[in-house]
Amino acid sequence: MIVVTGASGELGRMVIDELLLRVPAGQVVAAARSPEKLNDLVDRGIDVRPADYDRPMTLRDAFDGADRVLLISGPVPGARLRQHRAVVDAARATGASFIAYTSVAHADDTPIPVPDHERTERYIAESGLPYGFLRNNWYSEVYIPVARRAAMTGEVLGASGAGRIASAPRADYAAAAASVLAGDGHDNSVYELAGDSAFTKAELADLVSDLSGEPVTYRNLTTADYRDALVAQDVPEPDAEFTARVDEGIAAGGLADTPGTLARLIGHPTTPLAVTLAPAVRGI
Ligand SMILES: NC(=O)c1ccc[n+]([C@@H]2O[C@H](COP(=O)([O-])OP(=O)(O)OC[C@H]3O[C@@H](n4cnc5c(N)ncnc54)[C@H](OP(=O)(O)O)[C@@H]3O)[C@@H](O)[C@H]2O)c1
Repeated sequence: MIVVTGASGELGRMVIDELLLRVPAGQVVAAARSPEKLNDLVDRGIDVRPADYDRPMTLRDAFDGADRVLLISGPVPGARLRQHRAVVDAARATGASFIAYTSVAHADDTPIPVPDHERTERYIAESGLPYGFLRNNWYSEVYIPVARRAAMTGEVLGASGAGRIASAPRADYAAAAASVLAGDGHDNSVYELAGDSAFTKAELADLVSDLSGEPVTYRNLTTADYRDALVAQDVPEPDAEFTARVDEGIAAGGLADTPGTLARLIGHPTTPLAVTLAPAVRGI
C-alpha cells in the first residue's frame, strides 16, 4: 500500500492521479490534514485518511498497513522540520519499508535558503528507513504570477543576475514521484529532479514578451532593493525577504543544474516553461 501525505495540495493531488495510472486504486491511500477536500477521491475508490503533521497520532493511523510513504514537505518553513520528523517516526513505527521525500535541488549544498530539507533528509537517513530523496528544482508555476505581472508592467524584477533556473511543472515532479513510489530499485536513492533546460530571468522577460506581444525587460536589483520592491507590491515582508534570498541563491547557481534525471524517470522530455506560462500570459 502506498500512502501520499499532503494529498490535498496541488502536488499531492497530481501524485495520486499519476499513481492511479500505475497501481490499482485499492493500493493508494490519500492522507491529508483536510480530508474533507478529497471527497472526489473517495468517489473514485481511494482510501482517504486524516493525517496532520502536527498531530502524530493521526499519522500512525494514516500509515496503518503502509508499505511505502511519500512525505510531501509542509509549506511552513520553521515548523516543517518538526512536522517531518513526526512523519518519519510514524512511518518507522508502523513498519513502512520505504519513504520518499520531496526535497530541494542539491539539498546538502544549496545556496537557496531552505535548510529544513537538508535536515529532514539527514533525519530520514539516520532513521534507517530505506529512502528516495526527490530533490525537486523550482516549480515552473512559481513564475506564473511573475509573468502575468510582467506582461502588464513591462518588467521582470529580480536579484538573480545571470543565474539560471531549471524549473519544471508540478505535473512532471508528480509523475517522477509516482514512478519511484510504484517502482522497484529505488532504496536509498537521491534524485536531482529539474527541467531539461534552464532560464535566466532576462530570458524569462524575453519569453513573456514573445507570449504577450508586449515589450518586457529584466531589471536586476540588489537583494535588499528587490525585497523592498516586493514589499512595495504588497508582498508580506517575510515572503519578500525569502523571495529575494532565493534570487541570491539562484545567482549563486543553486537552481541551475539540468542533470536530465527527471526526464529519464518520467520517460519523456520535461514540459517547457513556455507551455506553463502561455495560458496565463496570453490575452492579458
Ligand atoms: N519547488 C518549489 O518550487 C516549491 C514551491 C512551493 C512549495 N514547495 C514545497 O512543496 C510542497 C508541496 O507543494 P504544493 O504545491 O502541493 O503545496 P500546496 O498546494 O500549498 O499544498 C500544501 C499541502 O500541505 C498540507 N499541509 C499543510 N500543513 C499541514 C499539516 N500540518 N499536516 C498535514 N498536511 C499539511 C496542506 O493541507 P491542507 O489542504 O489541509 O491545507 C496541503 O495539502 C509545499 O508544501 C512546499 O514544501 C515547493
